[in-house]
Amino acid sequence: MAGWTAGDIPDQGGRTVLVTGANSGLGFHTALQLGKHGARVLMAARDAARGEQAVERARAAAPEATFELVSLDLADLASIASAAADVASRVDRLDILVNNAGVMAIPYQQTVDGFEKQLGTNHLGHFALTGRLLPPLLAAPAARVVTVSSTAHRSANGINFDDLQSERSYSPMRVYGQTKLANLLFTAELDRRARGAGTAMVSVAAHPGLASTGLLTTRPGEPGRGFFGAFFNPLVKILGQSDAAGAWPQLYAATMPDVTGNDYFGPRSLGEQRGHPKKVGRTPWATDERSAARLWELSEGLTGVTYDRLNAPAT
Ligand SMILES: NC(=O)c1ccc[n+]([C@@H]2O[C@H](COP(=O)([O-])OP(=O)(O)OC[C@H]3O[C@@H](n4cnc5c(N)ncnc54)[C@H](OP(=O)(O)O)[C@@H]3O)[C@@H](O)[C@H]2O)c1
Repeated sequence: MAGWTAGDIPDQGGRTVLVTGANSGLGFHTALQLGKHGARVLMAARDAARGEQAVERARAAAPEATFELVSLDLADLASIASAAADVASRVDRLDILVNNAGVMAIPYQQTVDGFEKQLGTNHLGHFALTGRLLPPLLAAPAARVVTVSSTAHRSANGINFDDLQSERSYSPMRVYGQTKLANLLFTAELDRRARGAGTAMVSVAAHPGLASTGLLTTRPGEPGRGFFGAFFNPLVKILGQSDAAGAWPQLYAATMPDVTGNDYFGPRSLGEQRGHPKKVGRTPWATDERSAARLWELSEGLTGVTYDRLNAPAT
């Protein structure tokens, strides 16, 4: 694994992939590299214009590859349902799902369905999407679900089940860390259930370290992050690695044959902030099976999406 780059991705010919947040940053480079290596890539984006521009950029960079746009707003359960139906109408099977999209440290907002927006986008949106995409995922011989977390999961001492929607108090960075912990708990529980139900689907996680992307850039029409954004954005540009290199851990997780269930990959240098991918550790909170099961049940209730085909008892 030492020295691994996107150039080492094995041939992805015959595979179909969906990447969320594919119009920007890590998602764009993940989509681009998977396309360059032969996969048919569905690029999911919430904004039509930004999505179309990204598909054009990808096609210009890899004219031989297949890139298609899927409209998906993870902060809207109805959009998730129609995106999943759209995908199911286009593909027979989905080999790789990269749950990459995310928002970080935004001012308090709610999703269309009334969820706190970081939780709603980063965790609940991907929970609902993955559940709705189970039929094409399980139609693939050994699908892989890659969920993008962060070293920021380390800031969370467990999921705040007493105030999951931050109704009593809201701190943008604290809640971001919670959602990234939720990403790891989801990864673990999905993998446990996939194995328990006897499927060949594998659920894994990755994080990019510190990568210069659009994560702290305020989108038109959205509230900014004030001092935090003004301070953090330039810092990431100086200290972080490129968005292309930041995508390596999730590309490794998505494509390499030696990856096994619930693995977690991140950069190998400078305290996991930059460099080539390696297997990385996580906090004890992220391996707590009771929290993972509790979050799963709450997520089913909140989103109305149940993973019926993975509910078979473990053998
Ligand atoms: N960059 C880092 O240093 C870093 C570190 C640790 C973890 N991460 C994680 O890496 C992932 C990718 O982020 P990035 O750094 O590449 O940032 P980015 O360039 O801002 O990409 C984030 C993507 O998510 C999309 N998105 C946001 N809200 C969405 C919604 N409601 N529905 C659908 N898509 C939505 C964005 O779309 P729009 O362009 O329309 O907003 C964008 O395409 C995130 O999960 C983030 O938490 C990043």
